Amino acid sequence: MKEKVDILKNVDWDNLTFSITPTRSMYLAYCENNEGWKAGQLEPYGDITISPSAGVLNYGQGVFEGLKAFHSVKNRIVLFRPDRNASRMHESAIRLCIPPVPEKMFMDAVIAVVHDNVDFVPQQKKGSLYIRPCIWGSGPVLGVKPAPSYTFIIYVSPVGPYFPGGLKCLSLKVTNLYHRAAPKGLGNVKAIGNYSAALYPHKLAKKHGFDEVIYVNAANENFIEEVGSANLFVLKDSCLKTPRLGGSILPGVTRDSVIQIAGEILGLEVQETDVTINDVLNADELFCSGTAAVITPIGKVSTDDESREIGGNRIGSLTREIYDILTGIQNESREDPFAWVQPVMGL
Ligand code: COI
Repeated sequence: MKEKVDILKNVDWDNLTFSITPTRSMYLAYCENNEGWKAGQLEPYGDITISPSAGVLNYGQGVFEGLKAFHSVKNRIVLFRPDRNASRMHESAIRLCIPPVPEKMFMDAVIAVVHDNVDFVPQQKKGSLYIRPCIWGSGPVLGVKPAPSYTFIIYVSPVGPYFPGGLKCLSLKVTNLYHRAAPKGLGNVKAIGNYSAALYPHKLAKKHGFDEVIYVNAANENFIEEVGSANLFVLKDSCLKTPRLGGSILPGVTRDSVIQIAGEILGLEVQETDVTINDVLNADELFCSGTAAVITPIGKVSTDDESREIGGNRIGSLTREIYDILTGIQNESREDPFAWVQPVMGL
């Protein structure tokens, strides 16, 4: 009880940001020498020891996921589409020669961590509990090859908005200096290295007053890909477009949710297609989507040659509507016609 009070009292519940707040416990499981995943367990949240020659440290052999638990208006804790994260992590693992964690093991582990840290789920309207499953090649390697052993870890943190200001419009720069991912590379899976590749372009963009970068495709630089930490949507004349999958774009869970909300609830025409820089510059509304980003409006887009305000640099009505529907389903204040929400605990 004392431990519980001590950790919780340091949390500034009214001003949560997207940053790490240590919680009570994390989940750990191991797979040694291709012998399959052994049952995992909860341990106190804290540092771990790892070999300096671990595959993940030397060659980036690691994948991760991000999902959230919400305190809903029905006074229960719910997960949003966790099955999608389980299956995407499976795909990511295969691509990086990591033994995939069985999807049931993934789900049971997520539920176990959320249960044990349930008092870290923020109250309604204060934020959510971000859940970060990772699989790392933790065994030693020197030559470039798959690690002999792996660690599956899940830690959690109460979080607020990913972009400070929440629904404040972002100003983005289309970069032609860097690509996020190569065709047939790792862009369509959640490999840890994809995110370190984005650090420097992001730092440069920040230095010039932008919030984030829009990447174009590496093959011919004609098409928009994604924002690096989120997928992108363009509304023009009541048609919602988003870059098609199949290349180097991450198949976002929120991306898929937006497509279904827009098409099936709002009756909009939705196209997964090639999206050009001109489409973005001439949009009626523009927003990005992600587990962390939720739905974040974009109010300004700049290329090297020009800068355009989108929708008067104010959140568009459709963007707002999609935000309200998505977050309403997540916090159970709206009907959930797609059965996306999975309760894990009544309070
Ligand atoms: C997410 O939206 O959960 C992500 O993984 C993006 C970023 C925080 C890395």
